[in-house]
Amino acid sequence: MNKKIAVIGAGNVGASCAMYLAEANLADVVLVDIIEGTPQGKGLDLTQAGPVRGYNAKILGTNDMKDIKGADIVIMTAGLPRKPGMSREDLLNKNADIIGSVAKEIKKHAPKSFVIVVSNPLDLMTYHMRNETGFEANRVFGQAGVLDSTRLRAFVAMELDVAMTDVQAMVLGGHGDTMVPLPRYTTVAGVPIGELIPKDRIKAISERTAGGGGEIVKLLKTGSAYYAPAAASVDMCRAVFCDEKKVLAASAYLTGQYGIKDIYIGVPVVLGANGVERILELKLNKSELGSLQKSAATYKEHLKIMGY
Ligand code: APR
Repeated sequence: MNKKIAVIGAGNVGASCAMYLAEANLADVVLVDIIEGTPQGKGLDLTQAGPVRGYNAKILGTNDMKDIKGADIVIMTAGLPRKPGMSREDLLNKNADIIGSVAKEIKKHAPKSFVIVVSNPLDLMTYHMRNETGFEANRVFGQAGVLDSTRLRAFVAMELDVAMTDVQAMVLGGHGDTMVPLPRYTTVAGVPIGELIPKDRIKAISERTAGGGGEIVKLLKTGSAYYAPAAASVDMCRAVFCDEKKVLAASAYLTGQYGIKDIYIGVPVVLGANGVERILELKLNKSELGSLQKSAATYKEHLKIMGY
């Protein structure tokens, strides 16, 4: 029997996830949205691309959350995207309500699933999802670090005119203005970028990474990024299904690592068949650790606003 992935929200991110999932032949996909016709239409359209693109995944579009029954992974993309001038935190209360209602359905129909949260503000919504489902922390995690790291990887590759795939990067912290790009842990085929790129350019690239989502919001004017967020989510699904034990940055629940606890924030994790199997504790220097803890403190404040 094929694996099953439910994608909640058939908007830009959700539909792109469904497309990449089908193309990766990873699982059958159920695409759910509250807007009548949208998931059905996109599901049918994607199904009809199958013979040309060479995939056989079944893609069901639906308005009924019952159809997520038995899903192995749920990717949560439902929610409002950012508009120009909005921070991810501006979406807080609206998206928290949506997370709450979807979490109830996940608990009912896919109680054994892993949940990957993409809805913003990411780290807060992931915390809320875990609380509302009551799932173990290893089964609920947020897609953010993979996206932020892939942005940094792309910028470094563009700077040096080298293969994107040869660049490895690590971006920690919250998925927002307080994120912490780590140039010290960013390499090109194993060579630290400090040996290849001047300091002032590394600073500029790190800043562009932190503002990477905002740069796209500004350009699009009517919404936020979706291709890279979807690609990053699908990468995480593959790590779980194939038990890859992949080391990547994800929003994970901390219980004292990096001196931070009871919060979801971006850290390096080992992602495998049991979801977040381990959190890696890097030897951060004083400034890096300070930035990560500052990022965490911001989210603690936001959690308080949400009533936690
Ligand atoms: N159940 C299912 N779908 C819902 C629900 C719900 N309760 N509430 C809203 N939706 C749907 C909307 O109808 C819409 O089709 O979620 C979809 C969101 O799609 P877009 O508006 O295109 O937003 P998108 O760009 O996909 O971003 C979704 O991901 O990156 C984050 O910040 C982004 O929080 C946003 C989310």
